[in-house]
Amino acid sequence: MHQQKDDYIPALGYDRLTPLYDSLIRLTMPERAFKHRLIEQARIMKSHRILDLGCGTATLTLLIKETHPEAAVVGMDGDPKILNIAERKAREAGLNISFDRGMSFDLPYPDTSFDRVLTSLVIHHLTHENKVRTLNEVHRVLRDGGELHVADFGKPHNALMLAASLPWRIFDGFEATADNAKGLLPEMMRRAGFIEVHESARYMTLFGTLSLHVARKP
Ligand SMILES: C[S@@+](CC[C@H](N)C(=O)[O-])C[C@H]1O[C@@H](n2cnc3c(N)ncnc32)[C@H](O)[C@@H]1O
Repeated sequence: MHQQKDDYIPALGYDRLTPLYDSLIRLTMPERAFKHRLIEQARIMKSHRILDLGCGTATLTLLIKETHPEAAVVGMDGDPKILNIAERKAREAGLNISFDRGMSFDLPYPDTSFDRVLTSLVIHHLTHENKVRTLNEVHRVLRDGGELHVADFGKPHNALMLAASLPWRIFDGFEATADNAKGLLPEMMRRAGFIEVHESARYMTLFGTLSLHVARKP
């Protein structure tokens, strides 16, 4: 499934598979563990405004709002169909979350409008050029001292994870996944202007190593 320059790839590559997304992720990844860890490391405060970039079905977005009810939480995604699922889940949970449609590389928000940007399993979907544009956009919408927290596939950290990453790389394309698989995301974040970039946690999944990263806007 290859991305066009100004488009997005649906969560599982094809629209008709989107309703299966939540079940598949729950079965194949330590989803709650890594999403809770991402939220914990973001040290969210009551006054914060948080963006979940590429929120998909909003599992992370809901967790953020449940754990930090006084923070203002926004979920954004390029796919209007998955946003319908996200909005329904938030409504059913009785959570006040704003959802916007937008593209990660052209964010529909003013400069310095968020304290934290969290993003999970999105960056690997983007072409190299769109990863660069997206990181620049995240830097722009974060306030000074704001932080980016990323959960996504990283460089395989053992032979088992190298083997496990192959089906994912075939499915999403070797070119699009190369930056993640070669461990280049931290350097790309630094080039976008972030500092104190580091990997904060690693998980083994059926699709290979999942890495968490932190980056701060000076
Ligand atoms: C694999 S899903 C991850 C969803 C969710 N963040 C999670 O962790 O479960 C990737 C999501 O990124 C969205 N997406 C992909 N490219 C995008 C882009 N350029 N701008 C905005 N959303 C994008 C897709 O629509 C999809 O909902």
